[in-house]
Amino acid sequence: MPYYQQPLDVTAQPIWQALQAHRTSLQNFSMREAFANDPQRFSTFSLSGCGLFLDYSKNLMTTETRDLLVKLARDVDLQAAIDAMFRGEHLNASEGRPALHTALRRPIGDKVLVEGVDVMPQVQQVLNKMTALVGSVHDGLWRGYTDKPITDVVNIGIGGSFLGPQLVSEALLPFAQRGVRCHYLANIDGSSFHDLAAKLRAETTLFIVSSKSFSTLETLKNAQAARAWYLAQGGSEAELYRHFIAVSSNTTAAVAFGIREENIFPMWDWVGGRYSLWSAIGLPIAMTIGMSNFKELLSGAYSMDRHFQTAPFEQNMPVLMALLGVWYGNFWGAQSQAILPYDHYLRNITKHLQQLDMESNGKSVMQDGNPVNCATGPVIWGGVGCNGQHAYHQLLHQGTLLIPADFIVPVVSYNPVADHHQWLYANCLSQSQALMLGKSFSEAQAELRNQGMDEAKIAELAPHKVIPGNRPSNTLVLERISPRRLGALVALYEHKVFTQSVIWGINAFDQWGVELGKELGKGVYSRLTGTEQNGAEDASTQGLIDFFRARHRG
Ligand code: F6P
Repeated sequence: MPYYQQPLDVTAQPIWQALQAHRTSLQNFSMREAFANDPQRFSTFSLSGCGLFLDYSKNLMTTETRDLLVKLARDVDLQAAIDAMFRGEHLNASEGRPALHTALRRPIGDKVLVEGVDVMPQVQQVLNKMTALVGSVHDGLWRGYTDKPITDVVNIGIGGSFLGPQLVSEALLPFAQRGVRCHYLANIDGSSFHDLAAKLRAETTLFIVSSKSFSTLETLKNAQAARAWYLAQGGSEAELYRHFIAVSSNTTAAVAFGIREENIFPMWDWVGGRYSLWSAIGLPIAMTIGMSNFKELLSGAYSMDRHFQTAPFEQNMPVLMALLGVWYGNFWGAQSQAILPYDHYLRNITKHLQQLDMESNGKSVMQDGNPVNCATGPVIWGGVGCNGQHAYHQLLHQGTLLIPADFIVPVVSYNPVADHHQWLYANCLSQSQALMLGKSFSEAQAELRNQGMDEAKIAELAPHKVIPGNRPSNTLVLERISPRRLGALVALYEHKVFTQSVIWGINAFDQWGVELGKELGKGVYSRLTGTEQNGAEDASTQGLIDFFRARHRG
């Protein structure tokens, strides 16, 4: 029986007990000492691949830790799971589907079978359709209702139909072409639509309604608002096709909305929302950077796919990062993971990785429905590293929680201003160094003594200046952001998340947890707006409904 139908309870495996014993033996492990004792530590615990360099030497680990973690990956038969994913087996068992986002970045000529049908020709067809659309918008051939070329593209979508495209199109702005501006409309909050509409002219705006299901409330409401706005600005129903296109696997619903069938870009149920930026959901990316750069993005991701499939686990970037996550989450009690990009263009990566990781691995039952016996996905948080240094990094350095951090930094800036990039890079390195080194009590005392402080005051102040250190981080270095490297970087995290799901025996590709709120939302909405205002199942919700109704009465 395939592993995903009958996953192992990893906590019952001998390797789990071995890791627990090893963790106890590392109770007094000091990274400071490990670096002092081993000049090779940096080269032992670093590797490059796919245009990325990973330094994972600042972790609470020895070579024995790595060996044990790699054994864990072998004992759960990770390689079989990787092969099964790329082959298109039904890894998303609760939805009875494969997870084949990797097919979207495979080279022409490859074959990938879904239910016996090679899907690669369809993938290629959609890429060709995207090429034609992007070309005609960029060349000014796609015209609005007053015959003017398109200047602004608005992606109406949420979750995976927003976060990935937004990350990549904004990260690759140095590759932007032909001045088409891309905007994103996700939130159902009318203020979001209001502020965006104020910047646009209907006659030169193209809306992409981006929704795999074409049933997402926020997206449909925003699409209706956009259509009403377009009509109010002078557009007509007859010319709607010049201004509204869609990306969806639900053609019927998109046509019912009023989108011409030839303007619908297909999606497939074997691509999950948070893994979909590589499909036509990536249209705003392609609109921003052009199709040849979009294909570079795909090939960067493909290079990471190959690395993930073929590199031995000891030198496999996503596997190592996943194992370190398991190490901290399951053996050191870490509950969150900070993602800290030191790059303006990567400012949205934390939000994308938050959905990717938390929607994938925020699960508490295994594939077979049995409860999982250990912690699963962590809270992913963070943001632009340089800004965080003057805000939440305090907790990273001196708080009581252990929070592993990933630093991401390019060596070269697209926009050098004086010595800013040198300082930015220095900031990044000094943060991971400070997390690792910390400042001991005697160092704090010596520092204060050097400032000429009297002993009584030193005794009072020194404890506040102590920084425990020994806090783990990875540093990912890129030469500079490019479509290829960004493709590899995003795919790296996709595979990291998948690897962890295999270890825990959970399904990384469903998201049933988000459904209940959607269901309950319908009842709450009808009590807010309808004649039947009572009947909420709890007094808190009913009280809050009453509060709203009282304000909106009459
Ligand atoms: O509600 C969660 C979710 O289904 C995500 O998984 C998905 O990325 C997002 O909503 C948007 O879904 P759709 O593309 O179908 O509108």
